[in-house]
Amino acid sequence: MKVYLKQIVERLSRYLSKIKTFYTNSVRKMYLAGLVVFSVLFVGCCGSEPLRFPTWFKFGAASSAYQVEGAWNVSDKGESIWDYLVHTRPEIVAGGGNGDVACDSYHLWRRDIQMCEELGLDTYRFSISWSRLLPSGYPNIISEDGKNYYNNLIDGLLEKGIEPVVTVHHFDLPQSLQDLGGWANPLIVDWFTDYAQVVFSLFGDRVTYWVTINEPFILCEGVFPLFLAPYYDDPNIGRYLCNKNVLVAHAKAYRMYDDLFRSKYNGKLSLSTLFFWFEPATPEDEEITDLMFEFWEGRYAHPIFSKEGGWPVKLEKNLADNARMEGYSHPRLPPFTSEEIDLVRGTYDYFALQHFTSRLVRRLRPGERNPMWPLIGSSEMGIIMESHPSWVSVNDWFAIWPQGFHKQLNWLNTTYDLKEIFITENGIPLGPDVDDTLRVEYHRSYLEQILQALHEGVPITGYTAWTLMDNFEWVSGYTVQFGLYSVNFTDPMRTRTPRTSAKYYANVTRTRML
Ligand code: BGC
Repeated sequence: MKVYLKQIVERLSRYLSKIKTFYTNSVRKMYLAGLVVFSVLFVGCCGSEPLRFPTWFKFGAASSAYQVEGAWNVSDKGESIWDYLVHTRPEIVAGGGNGDVACDSYHLWRRDIQMCEELGLDTYRFSISWSRLLPSGYPNIISEDGKNYYNNLIDGLLEKGIEPVVTVHHFDLPQSLQDLGGWANPLIVDWFTDYAQVVFSLFGDRVTYWVTINEPFILCEGVFPLFLAPYYDDPNIGRYLCNKNVLVAHAKAYRMYDDLFRSKYNGKLSLSTLFFWFEPATPEDEEITDLMFEFWEGRYAHPIFSKEGGWPVKLEKNLADNARMEGYSHPRLPPFTSEEIDLVRGTYDYFALQHFTSRLVRRLRPGERNPMWPLIGSSEMGIIMESHPSWVSVNDWFAIWPQGFHKQLNWLNTTYDLKEIFITENGIPLGPDVDDTLRVEYHRSYLEQILQALHEGVPITGYTAWTLMDNFEWVSGYTVQFGLYSVNFTDPMRTRTPRTSAKYYANVTRTRML
């Protein structure tokens, strides 16, 4: 009871200080009023244990194959697009690192499981390396070593009572398929479905939660501001071909699971969607912000999760008009046939949400140009994305604004008909310090928004911290750290050390309180 009262007092004093900070900000006044009313109601009337996560709520952490496994060429493993990129163009990775060894999880998977145990996790999300399991990219050869590695990891987790959440594909396409056009080639629909069938048949008996494809938005579009393999400099066509192919590939894999595995294993499938919350800078920016949602989120979510399916109508027209004005004879975003709309629509059992940050959106002023990273979509939409002065800004694309997460959750819940939202990534990029108090505050404040959303009836069933340990952060290499555990990359043993945030998170999973 004492702890409970203390938490209420802490909660109120936090809101009081927020009131002080936001008082002069007229754009935020309405939101603030809502927040105050809500917190009074929340504290005053929400039963005896408003601050506790339900026992069925799953806490987890995540990683992905190329970012942690290393062992890039052991046994019969094939080459992935990341192996190829870092070996042919090492200069593109900050600090010149690569994932050849990374965290060496291929050898140190027992230690990874031990860390999950130390954190008291209910789930561990990892991905399967396509070229480790299918060295040629096709199911003509299934690697025994690849099979054993993932079987060991899955069985080891289950022995400790930790549920594996498995991503079938996380940014590391076999180079053999990239050579044929990769995600821009419609044949990838069959290549991916064949691969997914092997994965489901080998591991489906022990895995319930599947993420077919990680963040298709970043997979297709992250290539063009040039921070992901295959590192093409073609912003006009490839991303849109990929956009359609990735959705159809997910859908075919989902339908295949329905036909061959669902009755036996009854798993849950989705793809994981990256959502930034976009806040209009002024009321005049609301319309363009709505269009930006459709550009970033809608293009990947609407065809699957909306009732009507297909591309978001306003955006499809906007992009077609732009293409016409630019002299293209066909829309750059390939239209869906009505059969494809039906194939894709409804191919989900839950919503896998990945959320990191919020951005303030405003139209570009005359003569203004977009800054470097948050370029995706900015030029098409003629907008700029930035941080609000009241948010804690971490770098040029990242600011802490937990209320944006809350808005995101409510938006999702009202926009689509969802029975379950599972947060499959949420984390913060910081420096190497083991005492990472800002990360503690980030996770605490974002988890707090989940609690509030849960009490408002948003069906969130799990939360996954990105990431279990520092790892290869794509073209940022090892210069940025997201990990609950720090990893010493100069030590051949890749020693892992719990950060302050790991201890905090372990306490949350143990007490189910913040
Ligand atoms: C990706 C991870 C990445 C993280 C941080 C997510 O978009 O799934 O692979 O490391 O963001 O950038």
